[in-house]
Amino acid sequence: MSRPAGLHADVAEVLLTEEEIGAKVRELGARISTDYAGRRLTLVSVLKGSLPFMADLMRSIDIPVRIDLMEVSSYGGATTESSGLVRILKDLSASIVNEDVLIVEDIIDTGLTLNYLIRYLRGKAPASLRICTLLDKPARRLVEIKVDYVGFTIPDQFVVGYGLDYGELYRNLRYVGVLRPEVYSGTPEA
Ligand code: PRP
Repeated sequence: MSRPAGLHADVAEVLLTEEEIGAKVRELGARISTDYAGRRLTLVSVLKGSLPFMADLMRSIDIPVRIDLMEVSSYGGATTESSGLVRILKDLSASIVNEDVLIVEDIIDTGLTLNYLIRYLRGKAPASLRICTLLDKPARRLVEIKVDYVGFTIPDQFVVGYGLDYGELYRNLRYVGVLRPEVYSGTPEA
């Protein structure tokens, strides 16, 4: 990875503004609140990318929620490809037996991470299990996933920001942007 030019300078294009994300998160929160009205919900977020989305989404939901955090890793480190092998770095803190569970993800790409997680969490006997993702990149899907709540369907571009990283950087951008190719190709800028 070449040395970043700067947080915003490395972004070629803003794909989703802070305002667009905020409006969508409120819309998703309202839908979830209606769909689960009269029940309590356990939000399971998948670190680290989902952190900003989880923080905003939970505050847009006005039914009782519990939250739990998992961290998983696809083998391969800071690559732009998912290897398909998933390991659990941090497991749930509490039981989800008979609980309504909603997985909160920042992005679904190949679907391999969720494919693993869904099977893992179903094995813990929740009352229900649904999926909410802010971003969906269907062009790269390798396994079919039924997604219940989608914020934005995006093209096959390398996106960073609002939790999404490249080499652990750019997560703190308030917007979602397309990274300049020279940042991840290592080619010096012209
Ligand atoms: C990202 C994202 C999803 C996964 C999606 O996590 O948060 O969990 O990749 O990719 P997939 O559909 O191809 O499996 P990542 O492994 O980059 O970790 P991070 O959240 O810590 O950035």
